Amino acid sequence: MLVFKTKKELSDHISTLPKINNLGLVPTMGALHTGHTSLVQKAINENQTVVVSIFVNPTQFDNKEDLAKYPDTFDADLNLLSSISEDILIFSPSADEVYNHEIKAKKYNFEGLDTVMEGAFRDDHFNGVGTIVEALLLLVKPDRAYFGEKDFQQLQIIRKLVKQQNIPVEIIGCPIVRETNGLAMSSRNERLSKQLRQKASFIYHTLLSAKEKFGTENANYVIDWVKEQFNEQEDLELEYIEITDVDTLSPITRKNEKLKYRAFIAVYADGVRLIDNIAL
Ligand code: PAJ
Repeated sequence: MLVFKTKKELSDHISTLPKINNLGLVPTMGALHTGHTSLVQKAINENQTVVVSIFVNPTQFDNKEDLAKYPDTFDADLNLLSSISEDILIFSPSADEVYNHEIKAKKYNFEGLDTVMEGAFRDDHFNGVGTIVEALLLLVKPDRAYFGEKDFQQLQIIRKLVKQQNIPVEIIGCPIVRETNGLAMSSRNERLSKQLRQKASFIYHTLLSAKEKFGTENANYVIDWVKEQFNEQEDLELEYIEITDVDTLSPITRKNEKLKYRAFIAVYADGVRLIDNIAL
């Protein structure tokens, strides 16, 4: 498997590939699990060449402690990827290499997509995500780039970014991969005790019930119902529950049969922040 540490090495290699609409990109921050590999597998099925980037992007962390704690499992990540295919190209640069020694995010206007939910609770987070994803897209110039619906808000922001910046790439959203108990896979799950990891499946099961209730009840009723469920949970602290339009991510006012909605949730489990969402 080829591992590139610099932009020049990677783009030199890419320039030797035949240009036939067949290059896929999967951006990651490492600590890879089955959620990530589902994206990689889809990219391999749909492209001749796949680049997986492994880069813990400093500008998207508002909380420096979170950045410092981010797991570094590089060798295990390479093993996992090589068990899928030896042909994957890995890009794992240093922060200085990516940011040319000026580690700073660009400022974007994502037209409100970035001011709600994760954007409201994590300062500047999506400017950081936009900066790194734009840089990766311009460097790799993939035909398709793969992102998980686990971070649905991020996915919609990236769709907006490529439209605004006129980047010719197809953004492909991939379904959420879950543990057997229903908890959405995340590198943060490793930080939960065994007991709490089991208990945290409550998040998904509550979303499933919310989806069912949304069939007959109005959004405010469903939101209040979810809040009540978490009030009764000692170890799980609800940060937000929102029901929004899937395109604008603005909170639902009145149900409209022609629109599509999604419920989004963030919960603290013993200090570990978990997010999830579901199509309604
Ligand atoms: P990271 O959290 O490593 O996630 C990389 C990709 O894997 C994202 O598109 C994310 O949505 C997807 N993913 C993670 N868990 C998943 C799951 N359980 N099911 C499906 N997909 C899942 O998201 C980032 O990194 C960064 O913000 C990044 C886009 C790489 C920019 O730095």
